[in-house]
Amino acid sequence: MGKEKKIQEFRDKIKRVIITKEEIQKAIERAGKEIDSYYDGTPILLISILKGAFVFMADVCKAVTVPCEVEFMCASSYYSGTESTGVVKITKDITRDISKYHVVILEDIIDTGRTLNDIVKLLKARNPLSLRVITLLDKPERRIVDFKPDVALFTIPDHFVIGYGLDCGELYRNLPYIAEYNAE
Ligand code: IMP
Ligand code: MG
Repeated sequence: MGKEKKIQEFRDKIKRVIITKEEIQKAIERAGKEIDSYYDGTPILLISILKGAFVFMADVCKAVTVPCEVEFMCASSYYSGTESTGVVKITKDITRDISKYHVVILEDIIDTGRTLNDIVKLLKARNPLSLRVITLLDKPERRIVDFKPDVALFTIPDHFVIGYGLDCGELYRNLPYIAEYNAE
């Protein structure tokens, strides 16, 4: 396949923008204010779930003014396609003792709920001072495990989405907006 055709195919997979860059930035400001008022000066530890939440983490950590530290955990529940495998693997864990921290988990999207359900169980067993979950996107229609985030910035219908950290086959994470993926 020629270069032009490959680029066209890559672009054609971006069906339509569902959340603009500006809408995301406004939501991040809201999230920053929510965190600031909830923790009211108390130091927090932000834990982002890689890879999808790396962009969200970068923006949220700049929107908070309470003292904050950052950590990254890596979980994978998808192969390269658009369907969940049902198996959550923690491929990179944090090594520090979280028992002296108020932990805030930052996630890109909650779909079946399996990933966060497992991660929250794992982290709660390590006795943090408190633990809350903030997700950029929530797809409640797809839930298999009963899991509710403390904050969901956007609730979206059952579409596979890409951009702002979210991928399909490792591509599209760098889009500055959230778009629906064209699976055809
Ligand atoms: P869950 O365990 O099914 O809740 O899946 C959560 C993980 O699956 C997220 O952290 C994403 O990496 C991935 N995921 C779920 N839905 C989508 C989507 O629409 N686009 C891209 N990745 C998704
Ligand atoms: Mg992913």
